[in-house]
Amino acid sequence: MSERLLELRGVRAGYGHVEVLHGIDLAVDEGEVFAILGANGAGKSTLLKAIVGLVPVSAGEVVLRGATLRRQKPERLVRDGVALVPEGRWLFGPMTVAENLELGAACLPTAGKKQACQDALARVRRLFPVLAERERQPAATLSGGEQQMLAIGRALMSRPRLLLLDEPSLGLAPKVIAEIFGVIDELRRDGVTIVLVEQDAMLALKHADRGAVMRTGEVVLDGTSAELLADDSVRTIYLGSWPGEEGESA
Ligand SMILES: Nc1ncnc2c1ncn2[C@@H]1O[C@H](COP(=O)(O)OP(=O)(O)OP(=O)(O)O)[C@@H](O)[C@H]1O
Ligand SMILES: [Mg+2]
Repeated sequence: MSERLLELRGVRAGYGHVEVLHGIDLAVDEGEVFAILGANGAGKSTLLKAIVGLVPVSAGEVVLRGATLRRQKPERLVRDGVALVPEGRWLFGPMTVAENLELGAACLPTAGKKQACQDALARVRRLFPVLAERERQPAATLSGGEQQMLAIGRALMSRPRLLLLDEPSLGLAPKVIAEIFGVIDELRRDGVTIVLVEQDAMLALKHADRGAVMRTGEVVLDGTSAELLADDSVRTIYLGSWPGEEGESA
């Protein structure tokens, strides 16, 4: 039986006096890819930020491996094996690819740090060969797809057990998206648990084990990917037209 890695129990959170998450219940098991779906403004990014403590949780709790996180500091969470790849990537443009990757390793525990960094870097180079070729270039000179790879690579430098990905496909060409989702599949095979926020529900559910649909700060539906794909309301509201139904061109 798989173990529960992350649990949200009645989580409420928001910005200032504006509550955005109105009591979220979710459970993510060790080793699975869990998709968070929903339209613009549904609260998907806020949910990831609440998990890592970038927005304060005003009620309910976030539980990691059975322990409730209280006023979690993002750097503390990195040490607990959680890494967020934020929407918009947040790279340091003038710094090189290698320097951006090093920053991702900054929060590793000091003991064994050097070896851990080398191992993590070797994995990033293997997963994203193009980054290895561009290590001396400033991050700002990378293409959008390469920047997304760097953002994921930087998160992997802390060797997370739980990776939170916020819309990794946003604005990217289909070929690059396929490459990034190939890496997501590979990380899953490596045993990394992934919470994947995506507006492209079809794409996300193809790569996820389970998922949840959010609407205005609430989870309105959750289940296995197969269940969500078969659900009529998901199909009509969140997936748009079904491939094949409109006659796939070419
Ligand atoms: N920094 C902020 N300050 C105030 N309100 C915010 C802030 N960020 C988001 N919101 C509001 O919170 C709600 C949820 O936003 P959030 O970014 O979590 O949605 P989302 O599901 O990630 O949307 P998208 O698909 O566009 O990324 C929206 O109404 C948004 O306007
Ligand atoms: Mg968002």
